[in-house]
Amino acid sequence: MSKPKVLITRRIPQAGLARVQEVCEVRHWDSDEAIPRETLLEWIAGMDGLYCLLTERVDNELLTAAGPSLRVVSTMSVGYDHINVGACRSHNVLIGNTPGVLTDTTADLTLALLLATARRVIEAAAAVRNGEWGVWKPEWMLGRDLYGSTVGIVGLGRIGVAVAQRLKGFGCHILYTGNQPKAAAAETVGAEFVEMATLLAESDFVTAHCPYNQNTHHLFNAEFFRQMKPTAIFVNTTRGGTVDQDALYAALSNGEIAAAGLDVTTPEPLPITHPLLTLPNCVVLPHIGSASVATRTKMALMAAENLIAGVLGEQVPNLV
Ligand code: GLV
Repeated sequence: MSKPKVLITRRIPQAGLARVQEVCEVRHWDSDEAIPRETLLEWIAGMDGLYCLLTERVDNELLTAAGPSLRVVSTMSVGYDHINVGACRSHNVLIGNTPGVLTDTTADLTLALLLATARRVIEAAAAVRNGEWGVWKPEWMLGRDLYGSTVGIVGLGRIGVAVAQRLKGFGCHILYTGNQPKAAAAETVGAEFVEMATLLAESDFVTAHCPYNQNTHHLFNAEFFRQMKPTAIFVNTTRGGTVDQDALYAALSNGEIAAAGLDVTTPEPLPITHPLLTLPNCVVLPHIGSASVATRTKMALMAAENLIAGVLGEQVPNLV
C-alpha cells in the first residue's frame, strides 16, 4: 500500500520529521525561511496531510488548492488563529494542535518578561555595554518589585494558571478576568475573579493569556491602558493581534503605564523601525514563548502524531 502524502512547511526538530517519515511520504520545505505562498499552494495539491506552523495561513484558498485528498492540518503550535476552522469543517479537514506541552515553558517566559520589565533588566544590561555604568548610586535603574505585587491575569487558561502558580512563589496577590469565573482552576492558585475594570484599577502587572479571536482583537486598546495604574506593567505572550500597538505606544510614551513586555507583535517580525522599539520601557522578544529544546521537540512529535492519525483515518489525539 502506498504511504500517505504529506507536506511539511518548515525545518522542524529532527525527532518530529523522523516520526512522520516512518509513516508518510514527505514533501519537505526544509528551510528556516517561510515557504512562499505560491509554492505552498502548488505543493499542497493532492496531499493527504499538512504539517504547518503558525506562520502559514490555512484558508479556503489553500484547502481548495489541496483538493479532496486532504484529511488533516496539523499545526506545530497551540494557537490556531492562523487556521480558518469553518473552512476546514466545510472541506472535511481535521485540525490538530499542540496544547499542554508548551504551558510551562511559556509561563516561564512570561515570568522572564515580568521580571525583565519590572527590574529593567534589558535596559540595565545595555547600559553596561554602552559604558553608562558609573559609580554605584542609590537612585539609578530603579524598577518595581514583582514580589508582593498584585498581578492581573486576563484569561485563566492553562498558561494563565501556570503563571499564577509561579507567582504564588513571589507572594503575589492574583486577580483574573475572562468570560466567566473558573472556580476550580482559580482555587488551586488562589486567584480571585474580578471584572476587567477592577483588575485594571488594582493590578501592578497585567498579563495576557487569552486566545486570539474576533472577541479579543485589540482587546488591549487605549481605553484598557487608560484604566491601568500609571505605575503598572503590561505583558503579552499570547498573540500580537490582541493589542492595539498604536495605543500601547501612546500609553508608554505618555506615561499612562510604566512599561510593557511583548513576546508577540503585529506583524512578526516587528520591523526594526517600529516606534515601539525606540522606547526604553518596552521589551520586545521574537515570539520565543515555547522556545526550549525540550518543548519544541515535544511539540514537533505531538504535531507528528496528530498528522499521522489524521492521514490514517484514526482518532487525532489533539483535535481542535
Ligand atoms: C505559539 O505561539 C503557539 O501557539 O504554539
